[in-house]
Amino acid sequence: MMQKSTNVHWHEGHVSREDRESRNGNRGAILWFTGLSGSGKSTLANGVDHRLHELGVSSYVLDGDNVRHGLNGDLGFSPEDRTENIRRIGEVAKLFADAGTLALTAFISPYRDDRDRIRATTARPNDFVEIFVSCPLDVCEQRDPKGLYKKARAGEIPEFTGISAPYEEPLSPQLVVDTAENSLEECVDLVLKHLAAQGYIQLSSVAL
Ligand code: ADX
Repeated sequence: MMQKSTNVHWHEGHVSREDRESRNGNRGAILWFTGLSGSGKSTLANGVDHRLHELGVSSYVLDGDNVRHGLNGDLGFSPEDRTENIRRIGEVAKLFADAGTLALTAFISPYRDDRDRIRATTARPNDFVEIFVSCPLDVCEQRDPKGLYKKARAGEIPEFTGISAPYEEPLSPQLVVDTAENSLEECVDLVLKHLAAQGYIQLSSVAL
């Protein structure tokens, strides 16, 4: 991205990130769910968000279809637009982390470089938790919750991920969750346990 704004200075706020985290009782971080359309990213992110909320953890879901209506309503699905989509979401998610909140993002985010760029630019090294929502293409296609695979096969949607556009799996994600083999509840548990084991949320809040 070209920095167009000059003479702008980052203000260090009086309330530090640590102050916010200690009041919230959890760390701020980005839980980056990535996977094919229909793999279960949104369902899982919302399930985790619900459990976190019940536990008193500060969390918020940024969801592909919703964000594309507002902030990223000007972007389509070309490789360039997807990269810009992910860059903006990454920047928003970093602000949530700075606010001491767990930002759960549910975007296909098909390009490894785009995801790695966010990881490389977070304030702290383990602010970016990459969660690969693994599900075979044929299972996603059978689920076809929005009927988009059918349309993509019929040639009605160009550049559809998994059909006519690439998906690059993470090479070393922090967590892999297989939604074809496990129930939603099991997948949510796996994420919660990871967060507790790695100190993002307090151990006492999750029965391990
Ligand atoms: S991303 O590739 O830029 O990360 P994003 O997660 O925001 O994608 O949006 C994906 C959602 O947009 C899909 O779940 C689907 O509902 C819809 N969609 C519409 N066109 C496409 C397309 N060509 N490829 C993938 N998803 C599409």
